[in-house]
This record gives sequence, C-alpha cells and structure tokens, in this order.
Amino acid sequence: MEIRKLGKSGLLVPAVGMGTWRTFDIRGNGATANARLVVDSAISAGASFFDSSPMYGEAERVLGLTLKGRRNAVQIATKVWADTASRGWAQSKLSLLYFEGRIDLYQIHNLLNWKEHLEMIERLKDKGKVLAIGATHYSSHSFLELRRVMESGRIAAVQIPYNVEQREVEKDILPLAAELDLGVVIMRPFGGGNHLRRRPEESELVPLAPFGVTTWPQALLKWILSDPRCHTTIPATSKSQHVLENAAAGNPPWFGDEERKYVQRLAEKL
Ligand SMILES: NC(=O)c1ccc[n+]([C@@H]2O[C@H](COP(=O)([O-])OP(=O)(O)OC[C@H]3O[C@@H](n4cnc5c(N)ncnc54)[C@H](OP(=O)(O)O)[C@@H]3O)[C@@H](O)[C@H]2O)c1
Repeated sequence: MEIRKLGKSGLLVPAVGMGTWRTFDIRGNGATANARLVVDSAISAGASFFDSSPMYGEAERVLGLTLKGRRNAVQIATKVWADTASRGWAQSKLSLLYFEGRIDLYQIHNLLNWKEHLEMIERLKDKGKVLAIGATHYSSHSFLELRRVMESGRIAAVQIPYNVEQREVEKDILPLAAELDLGVVIMRPFGGGNHLRRRPEESELVPLAPFGVTTWPQALLKWILSDPRCHTTIPATSKSQHVLENAAAGNPPWFGDEERKYVQRLAEKL
C-alpha cells in the first residue's frame, strides 16, 4: 500500500483507508465479530486509516472495541458533530475514551458549529490528544463556507466527496487544498455503493490490467487516487474480501489522463 503525506497535517496515511458509516453502526456479538474480521483485513492489507463520527451511531464504539490491544497499529480520523460547545466537549471525551486517548485527525463534521469546535480541538491538540485538525462537508452547497475554513489557516486537512459522478470539488476545493498544502481525504468513493450497482463487462477492464486493476471498484478507487491532490480515500465495507480488493487499488502505477478518461467513459455508459 502506498503511504502518502496528508498535506501539512504531518500525518503519513495509506492511499486506501476505510470509512465506518453504516457498516460499523451495529450491535451484537455476531456483527461485532464480523467488524473485527474487517478490521483484521484492513490492518493486514495496510488500509489502517479509519474514519468515523459520533453521527454514525455505534460506529466509534464498535471501531474502538475491535481495536483493543492494537490501537497503535492504526490511525483514527473521527469527528465532532454537535450543535453546542458543551455537547462537543462531551463527544470528545467519549471519542478519546474509545480511541485510547488519541485522535490522529479530528474533524468538524459538516462544519456544524465550527467556530466553537475549532477552539476545542485546538485545545486538545495543544494537550497532545489530537495530532491534526480537519473539516468535512458532503454537500457542494457548503463549499463556500468550507473554503473560508480552509483559508483560516487553522485546519490541516479536508474531507470531501469526489468520485466519477460527483466532481464539484474539481472547481475550487481541490485547487485551493493543493495551494494551501492541505491533506485531502476523499469520502464516498463509490457514491455510497450506487456506482457499483451496474458494472462494465470484464473485457472492458482489460486495458486497466497493467495498472493492477482487475475489478470495477478498483478502477473507481484508482481513478480518485491518481489525482495527486487526493491523498487517501475511505471506502466503507462490511466484507473482508472487499477490504482486500479495495486495498489493492492503493498501489502504483497510477492512471494518467487517458486512463482516467477511459474510466469516466465506462461509468457514463452504465
Ligand atoms: N463527512 C461526511 O459528511 C461523510 C459523508 C458520507 C460519508 N463519509 C465517510 O466516507 C465513508 C465512505 O462513504 P460511504 O460509506 O457513504 O460510501 P462508499 O464507500 O462510497 O460505498 C460504500 C458501499 O460500497 C460497498 N462496497 C465497498 N467496497 C466494495 C467492493 N469492493 N465491492 C462491492 N461493494 C463494495 C459497500 O458494501 P459492502 O458492505 O457489501 O462491501 C457499501 O455499501 C463513510 O463510511 C464515512 O466514513 C463522510
């Protein structure tokens, strides 16, 4: 797995990490045992950068549980998502409990109440409990505000949606992130799974084999990661075999313009 510098955050992260929305919002021994297998596969494949949030129900708790005894083998990106400062502080206490006193990348989820939360996260960073600060938004309607936060000089990374069908960030956000040397984490690489419902013929993927791509999910991940402004992407999955398949897309060689356009054409046809 290629390891990349997450902009000026100082973190070194794998090109493919993992999200936990829905897939880790689970209860019960059977489901937790499955989540542990998924985490085992992610660690063994080097996809050891995990994104979570208090917004994802049980996900932070379950992720923390599956990491008992091996917290240092992974990096945790989680978020604060609260309408008041006091609720934000309460969330941070729980997150720090789940992740053994350290959050590698602490992000403001959907920019909710970001001014107050930024102060909180800066204080936690001063105490060594947070290594880097980020902000996320899933909607292009909020990209103007996201740009303001990026330009504040107080965050080191952004988490944004980017995939073959959702490319608004190409206009302003990716160029600004590159200019400011911000780390870029790409959420929703498969559009929440929608882009995997229909797939090209196997024969149509043959031209991508020299790039180590043999499946459609790998083509979609490599399309993202071949833009040098995108440092890591965090596909979510509940299946160990999908973790391994996805992680394999985190290795060079990377697509050039021609291959990226080819993948776009395949996606348009579906
Ligand atoms: N900050 C924000 O506002 C925000 C918003 C949305 C998401 N996020 C973050 O971004 C992460 C990723 O986004 P997402 O969860 O919405 O969607 P996604 O990663 O684009 O897609 C997830 C879906 O793809 C399927 N999948 C994954 N790998 C596969 C493979 N190799 N073959 C077939 N199916 C595969 C999964 O099903 P299986 O379980 O069957 O593999 C799952 O249903 C989230 O988990 C979360 O951490 C952040």
